[in-house]
Amino acid sequence: MIFTVAVDGPAAAGKGTISRALAERFGFAHLDTGLLYRAVGARGGDPVAAARGLTPADLARDDLRTLAAGQAASRVAAIPEVRAALTAFQQDFARREGGAVLDGRDIGTVICPGAEVKLFVTARPEIRAHRRWLELGGDAAQVLAEVIARDDRDMNRADAPLKPAADAVLVDTSDLSIEAAIARAAELVAARLPRA
Ligand code: C5P
Repeated sequence: MIFTVAVDGPAAAGKGTISRALAERFGFAHLDTGLLYRAVGARGGDPVAAARGLTPADLARDDLRTLAAGQAASRVAAIPEVRAALTAFQQDFARREGGAVLDGRDIGTVICPGAEVKLFVTARPEIRAHRRWLELGGDAAQVLAEVIARDDRDMNRADAPLKPAADAVLVDTSDLSIEAAIARAAELVAARLPRA
């Protein structure tokens, strides 16, 4: 079975948690596409060459989850040649046999416009910043400023900006527990699965 779940949305909205849970529940493979851009940013040097030469070892670095890596990722992610170099890998992953969940910013709009399920997971910026702060610590005001700066860069870039696909289902996790958000997403996937 070929079945793609596209999960897009801004930083710290809950995309990763929801995507991992969906993959586990339905036995699908999961790709956190933000990690690709984080790895390109972390390599330094020419980002286009980094994107073209990305290796599994780049994705296994243990410094990809920091705020700084997130900012670097969103800078290199605005470069069309970087995005183009990462497209085929993501599309192949999405159409692999057995089902796939991909989370990112442009999965439902650019990478997999034909995805069987498209979710746009969001939450108010203050809530997202608070979650990031709980995860990473640091100065709360600075974490909020970084979340807002990254949203702004991701939503306003010319190539593949962050926005919901016309047919995406919006899941606002601001006032939802993790369990409730996962249950809602799982319902949407279950409703679209081919009947056995
Ligand atoms: O999701 P995550 O916070 O790890 O993403 C890091 C950055 O990578 C985002 O802020 C965004 O600029 C970029 N990104 C992207 N397209 C994706 C996934 C991530 O542009 N599909």
